[in-house]
Amino acid sequence: MSIQEKLDRLNRIRDQIRAGGGPKRIEKQHEAGKNTARDRINMLFDPGTFAELVTFAGDEDMDNLKNPGEGVVVGYGKIDGRTVFVYAQDFTVSGGSLGRIHAAKICRVLDQAVKVGAPVIGLNDSGGARIQEGVDALNGYGEIFFRNTRASGVIPQISVIMGPCAGGAVYSPALTDFIIMVKNTSQMFITGPQVIKAVTGEEVSMEVLGGAMTHNQTSGVAHFAAEDEKDCMALIRRLIGFLPQNYRETAPVTAARDPQGDPDDLLRIIPDSPHLSYNVKRIISLVVDGGDFLEVQPYYAMNAVVGFARLNGQAVGIVANQPDYLAGCLDINASDKIARFVRFCDCFNLPLVTFMDVPGFLPGTGQEYGGIIRHGAKMLYAYSESTVPKVTIILRKAYGGAYLAMCSSSLRADNVFAWPTAEIAVMGPEGAVNIIYRNEIAQSENPEETRAKLTADYRERFANPYIACARGYLDDVIDPRDTRNRIIETLAMLAGKKDAGPAKKHGNIPL
Ligand code: HXC
Repeated sequence: MSIQEKLDRLNRIRDQIRAGGGPKRIEKQHEAGKNTARDRINMLFDPGTFAELVTFAGDEDMDNLKNPGEGVVVGYGKIDGRTVFVYAQDFTVSGGSLGRIHAAKICRVLDQAVKVGAPVIGLNDSGGARIQEGVDALNGYGEIFFRNTRASGVIPQISVIMGPCAGGAVYSPALTDFIIMVKNTSQMFITGPQVIKAVTGEEVSMEVLGGAMTHNQTSGVAHFAAEDEKDCMALIRRLIGFLPQNYRETAPVTAARDPQGDPDDLLRIIPDSPHLSYNVKRIISLVVDGGDFLEVQPYYAMNAVVGFARLNGQAVGIVANQPDYLAGCLDINASDKIARFVRFCDCFNLPLVTFMDVPGFLPGTGQEYGGIIRHGAKMLYAYSESTVPKVTIILRKAYGGAYLAMCSSSLRADNVFAWPTAEIAVMGPEGAVNIIYRNEIAQSENPEETRAKLTADYRERFANPYIACARGYLDDVIDPRDTRNRIIETLAMLAGKKDAGPAKKHGNIPL
């Protein structure tokens, strides 16, 4: 065979692999509103930067491929010039189902990504374990789960759900840092509608059971919901822009931009009445570069707001209470959301900026029976163990255990600033007065009047930042308009922070 004939054969095989499951199945994929694995990769990366790995893995009879590419395309490319690894399941080949070689290809990129210290993105679109391959398929999942766990905290791992992701297959995404789902075309569940009907009699559609909004709003399994695949790729690129390549590096610094809006609005957002709410995201956008805030889990536990932004070009993690939702109380879901985000930022050297306005932990049997003690403890643990620079701004309420949980100085915020509107106390004036003046109120001629007067006195005396200042728990009380500059200046000072905890194997975070 001449070299030309050998090259022709090579190209034939390559073309066959690139054609995936063939035109009919590709058409079916398009009809379902989905792109093919290779199209998705091209949409994701800077043009022309994708390099495929283990392209020919699979059938040994290369001239008669049964499963071209084994239902997954793997390799690396660039996002804004930075190397990122990818695997993209190809639903047109055996429904993207995972067999031994399919799993080995995914493991190859996970191993290589860890070795070179670059993020990995998994584009999931699969019918799950390849039924014909039995225990080899199960073992393949196990190998992936193990690697996801080992890579956790070493490189950022992002899972994108772009079709079905069913059964035990969901646990690979669940082990990674972020899950992005595409609205209307992606589903995640452990057991599907048919099994549920057979076992419990319950009838539910795939979308209601495990669609994008179910996992973004109800379960909290997913972190983002993209409108469609194009929006999804833009979202991944934006997210990657806030992250470092690995735990040894810091996130890329961009040119600083002024925040959006009139800084004087910072004086007008917090209402005079402590009983009125406001949207904390307005404050965030008046403080961060370009008002640009990438909110994580925006539909889940909306009483807490977490996400990425930049200050003077430096990427940071922002955590805030949201007075507009449940008055900004901390509950089980908000605690989980904040704790996990704080730990992500700490893994990847992203400083934490916390905006506090918290009336307390949410009261009630629902919360107590659900284990608010165990869940709330995650926040205390996450903030306490984190060693990245931490700056806390107390906007208004800072009551009780929730004050501590939102990164107080005792949990090792490096610097804490308060607005003049801050109220730092064991509990809110109404609750405090009802307890400490119970007898006085009951015995007075006009209990309501007495209660109102005592509450006003209490608020005057204790609901301000100055007692905490006098005790040395705060660094300064600042004009709200100086917030951005004070944070930037403080983070610059903290840039050299080195903080190592005691030697141990690993801690035991309450789960
Ligand atoms: C082998 C599979 C497959 C699988 C789909 N296919 N899933 N082949 N193993 N798990 C094949 C189909 O036979 C078909 O082949 C092609 O992929 C497309 O599938 P369709 O059914 O035509 O597509 P669609 O109608 O869109 O339905 C998609 C689907 C359905 C909902 C995902 O295929 C399905 O229910 N599949 C089985 C899901 C499942 O139960 N998987 C096992 C989960 S348990 P042809 O040749 O006709 O195109 C699991 C355990 C993991 O994953 C444990 C880890 C610890």
